[in-house]
Amino acid sequence: MRNTIRTLEKLKREGRPITCLTAYDASFARLLDAADIDAILVGDSLGMVVQGHDTTLPVTIEHMVYHLEAVARGARRAMLMADLPFLGDRDVATALEQGGALMRAGAQMVKVECREEHTELVRRMVACGIPVCAHLGLTPQAVHRFGGYRVQGRESAAAERMQAQALELQDAGAQCLLLESVPEALASQITRAARVPVIGIGASPDCDGQVLVLQDVIGLTPSPPRFARDFMAGTGSLAGAVAAYAEAVRSRAFPVANVHTFG
Ligand code: KIV
Repeated sequence: MRNTIRTLEKLKREGRPITCLTAYDASFARLLDAADIDAILVGDSLGMVVQGHDTTLPVTIEHMVYHLEAVARGARRAMLMADLPFLGDRDVATALEQGGALMRAGAQMVKVECREEHTELVRRMVACGIPVCAHLGLTPQAVHRFGGYRVQGRESAAAERMQAQALELQDAGAQCLLLESVPEALASQITRAARVPVIGIGASPDCDGQVLVLQDVIGLTPSPPRFARDFMAGTGSLAGAVAAYAEAVRSRAFPVANVHTFG
């Protein structure tokens, strides 16, 4: 039976870490299913790790649907999340149209990179039957606004805004939060305050779950981000690396505070 948002909610309630990885094709989706990964994210990171771009900005809704359909054919058990691509949030009509295309292609939840003005957009998506994961912190589609892939929420005013925004998005109906590259203490605080599951990447070991880009886990990224870990080393097989990641997240051996997180 396929995992659903209720699976993630139950894991949060029971204090058992949620495992999530990205995938972009059927073969890897099957591999992640075999390793019992709870949720698969078809991320627009595919623009970087599959298409070879420097950013996620060139990814279109057609690319997202193509890769999501392949993943949906490969994975039978993991819950499927997919990214609303760059400019998919330019107005409510576009977000509904593109979010709808992702749901039709097999997504159970659509991840939206959120700015402060996104609360209404999320409310409308949820009202129209599109479950939303709200992505906060370093939202890679805003890389040029941030001037690089930089940790977000370090100053106290920005941290307070992020926490308030997380709770506002939850109240608007977001059923999951994803925090990327935020200081560990802030990520822990948001996780404690949120009713919904909070998944971290470069966030905190206290988050309800962890996600990484698959290529970072299997040693295919030439200069991986500090928050990633190459699980191929010492395991020697793709299946072994994914299983080691799942085990490390579930036992809270990964991420390690101050090694894979930010102060
Ligand atoms: O696109 C993606 O893979 C993501 C993860 C890095 C969280 O957004």
